[in-house]
Parts: sequence; structure tokens; C-alpha cells
Amino acid sequence: MRILITGANGQLGRALHNALQGEGYAVTGVDRDTIDITDPGAVRATFEDTRPELVIHCAALTAVDYCAEHPDEALAVNGFGTQTVALACQAHDAAMLYVSTNEVFDGASRRPYREYDSPHPINPYGYSKWVGEQVVRDLVKRHYIVRTSWLFSHGGRNFVQSILGLAAQGKPLRVVTNEIGSPTYNDDLVAAILRLLPTGMYGLYHLVNAGHTSRYAFARHVLELAGYAAVPVEPIALAEYPRASRPPEYAALQNTAAARLGIVLRPWQDAVAAFLDAERATG
Ligand SMILES: NC(=O)c1ccc[n+]([C@@H]2O[C@H](COP(=O)([O-])OP(=O)(O)OC[C@H]3O[C@@H](n4cnc5c(N)ncnc54)[C@H](OP(=O)(O)O)[C@@H]3O)[C@@H](O)[C@H]2O)c1
Repeated sequence: MRILITGANGQLGRALHNALQGEGYAVTGVDRDTIDITDPGAVRATFEDTRPELVIHCAALTAVDYCAEHPDEALAVNGFGTQTVALACQAHDAAMLYVSTNEVFDGASRRPYREYDSPHPINPYGYSKWVGEQVVRDLVKRHYIVRTSWLFSHGGRNFVQSILGLAAQGKPLRVVTNEIGSPTYNDDLVAAILRLLPTGMYGLYHLVNAGHTSRYAFARHVLELAGYAAVPVEPIALAEYPRASRPPEYAALQNTAAARLGIVLRPWQDAVAAFLDAERATG
């Protein structure tokens, strides 16, 4: 199968590219340095060149504070850029996998969000990704929408790497207690997507490591396992951490749809341990 990955230089796109190539798929990766997904002519030309049978659309503006400061750009890339990719999939009869986010929810729930709970984004990033979900649903017959959250990966820019970096430099840590989510190891997400793709069970999925936690407890857990148990972390409230984007307070995701197919990611604590083992093994 010929697969095209957008956002292939990003943390998820790069790992997917490597894993799919390792499985023997014919994979082409593109990123902003190759095509801008907001340029319909460039997207059409890429599809003509690569004639994909499946497109995994990872390209996005993912810096949530930047999106809050530039909401029109966020919508142009994450919403209408996705529409451009979806229309190209339609024209080539390609299936599409769109990666979305827990930030499509408002965070007012008292239990983890299931796949078909109603989205209600409360910030420009979440809104733009929700627009992306809708254009994929409207335009591409054979699609997967995979929502994930709080990704941590080897070498990527993410919460775990930031916490470890600050601890290593002996910098003070202040982490919020009232933002709840489902931490997800990039490698586990990649493995789950690789299992989902051949099923042909198109639809909406929540692929996250099992369980949920606060940013504060997540940071403490990472520091303890990484040998930084003595590093103090000041617990703070979201309101004490001024930032451009307002995150949903409670945005844990529950995997009910993929679980029916036997695709369940391990508990997030086990994933953190595996991540740290792999970091140590590679020095
Ligand atoms: N990271 C998370 O915690 C998380 C959680 C939930 C969902 N997601 C979703 O998962 C997907 C992958 O996330 P990630 O963490 O791998 O993101 P990432 O590392 O930021 O990668 C996204 C890639 O998209 C590229 N891109 C941005 N604008 C583009 C444009 N106009 N045309 C072409 N490429 C463009 C970026 O290039 P530049 O670097 O040059 O901007 C970057 O290489 C995204 O759709 C994201 O919304 C991520």
C-alpha cells in the first residue's frame, strides 16, 4: 500500500514513517519544507506524484499558545489545510487517517470523554482541530479520526522532555494540579495506529495510554522514575499559570471503540517507565 504522511518531521509523523517503512509499506513523508498544506496546488501536485492509497495527516500547528495568539492561522492550517488534504483524498479515492486531540472537548466532564461525546472546544487550537475533524468526516468516505493527548516522545518537544530538562538544569518547577488528561507515549500510539490501519474499521477512536492524571502528578511520577525524586515541584492552579491558551481542565479520554477491536494501550505509568528505559538505553 502506498502511504503519504503529512507532518512527517514532527514527533508523531516521524515515528509513524519509520514504523510503517519497517513494516514494508511504501511510505512518502512530506512536511512544511516540502509542501504547505494550505496551498491546494502544492497538495494536488504531491498527490499526483505519490498517488497515495492512504494518507496519514499529522501536519498541524500544535503550539496551543501560538494558536491562541494567531487563531486565523490556526484555522487556516488545522481546519482548512485539512480540508485541502481531505479533498485530495476524495479526488484520489484514498483513505485518510486524521490525528486529532482531546482539546476538542471543553473539560467540564466528570468522567473521561468517550468517542461520541459532544465536542465543545474552548480555545482556538481545539476549535481548529474540531473543524478538521468535521471536514474529514464530511469529505472522505473511508476515514479514521484518532484523538490522542499529552504525547511524550524521544527527542520531541513535549511536557516530559521539558520537565526532565528543567530538573537536569536544577531549575525550579511549578506545575498545575487542576489540568487532567491522559498522557500518551508516542511509540505506543504508533503501535496502536499500526494495528488499527489493517482492520478497515473506519471511524472515530481515542488512542491514549490507559488512565488519567494531573499535570502535577504526571510530573512527579516522571521525576521519581528518572532519579529526580528530590527535585521540588510547586503545585499551582491553572489560574496561577498565565498563558495565551485556556486548556480544558478535565480532558481525559477513554478508549471504548478501539478496545472493541482488542487495541488497548498500557497504563500511562507503565508507558513512562518504558519510555525512560528506552531513553537510558540510548544514552
Ligand atoms: N503533541 C501532542 O501532545 C498532541 C496531542 C493531541 C493531538 N496531537 C495531534 O497529533 C498530530 C501530530 O502532532 P505532533 O506532536 O507530532 O506535532 P509536531 O511535532 O508539531 O508536528 C507537526 C508538523 O506539522 C508541520 N506543519 C505545520 N504547519 C504546516 C503546514 N502549513 N504545512 C505543512 N506542514 C505543516 C510542522 O512543521 P513546523 O515545525 O515547521 O511548524 C511539524 O513538522 C497533530 O495533528 C496534532 O494536532 C498532538
